[in-house]
Amino acid sequence: MKDIYILGIESSCDETSCAIVKNGVSDISTIISSQIDIHKNYGGVVPEIASRHHVRNITIVIEECLGKANMTMEEIDAIAITYGPGLIGSLLVGLEAAKTLSFIYNKPLIPVHHIAGHIYANSLEKKMEFPLLALVVSGGHTELILMKDHYKFEKLGGTLDDAVGECYDKVARVIGLEYPGGPKIDQLACGGTPSYQLPVPLRDDSYNFSFSGLKSAVINLNHNLEQRKESINRENLAASFQKVAVESLILKTRKALIENNIRNLIVAGGVAASTGLREKIKDLQEELSLNVTIPSMKYCTDNATMIAAAGYYAYRLGRIADLSLNSKSNDKLN
Ligand code: KG4
Ligand code: ZN
Repeated sequence: MKDIYILGIESSCDETSCAIVKNGVSDISTIISSQIDIHKNYGGVVPEIASRHHVRNITIVIEECLGKANMTMEEIDAIAITYGPGLIGSLLVGLEAAKTLSFIYNKPLIPVHHIAGHIYANSLEKKMEFPLLALVVSGGHTELILMKDHYKFEKLGGTLDDAVGECYDKVARVIGLEYPGGPKIDQLACGGTPSYQLPVPLRDDSYNFSFSGLKSAVINLNHNLEQRKESINRENLAASFQKVAVESLILKTRKALIENNIRNLIVAGGVAASTGLREKIKDLQEELSLNVTIPSMKYCTDNATMIAAAGYYAYRLGRIADLSLNSKSNDKLN
């Protein structure tokens, strides 16, 4: 069978990225231009600034990606683009670049939902086996998705308020850590003990999550300690927070796996990079004899490689858009 090369473009938040993936599994070339150093001065992503930087970087990133692969656009079979969800101004920059390339080089345009991208980052590790349960943990999403086949997404549950990554970032800000706080909390937690009492959220019978109560508990604890002029042990607080957040994710994941009789588990999204979560997933794997896939660190946070991988399976299913495709800041996983 002829090899299929998909060029993916991702610009939904603060990373401008382009990648070429062969047959949905081999990373031929990936370029990621991150804006973290710019946004950390503001404590989070500033949408207007993000869009402007995408405009400045997008053509450079695409050219670099093709150069690194030693390929021309003529050798590309199709272009996969994150159409949403995300910051609308940022999404539009990637979308317009993808549409322009599609028009000029007469290549099919494949719309990819950002979360489908995170899920398909796992196909860069090993073949996805169905039925599978995807634990999606990013800055904007916390969901349990059941997949019986490629692009058959069935949402079992999700967060009722904050996403888990958002909660990591907010807790980090409260204790004076720079954006993005998730990796810093994770790092601090490694050197701490979970000595602070925090509530494990939503121990109910659903597959849902809730993180705003945990966030408030950390804010209140920090505030009370400050008022009493007691110093906070940041390592121990990070360890206490991470323990409870991960416990909550594992609780509902275990329940969903058992009740739906699923043996294949994949983890997706930026928080999949958390060493605390990865350890507990390993324990769950042993406990339930699971077939687990977690993306390599470099494919956990936003990148175009996962978009190109997701794009390959979409292409094979004929999920092709025309040039009227528009960006969506919010859209159901499909
Ligand atoms: O998937 P992602 O790059 O962007 C979204 O689609 O939202 O996820 C970003 C989130 C941020 O909240 C970030 O703090 C978190 O992933 N994150 C981590 C780690 N690395 C990134 N959270 C915990 N531990 C990490 N090592
Ligand atoms: Zn993401």
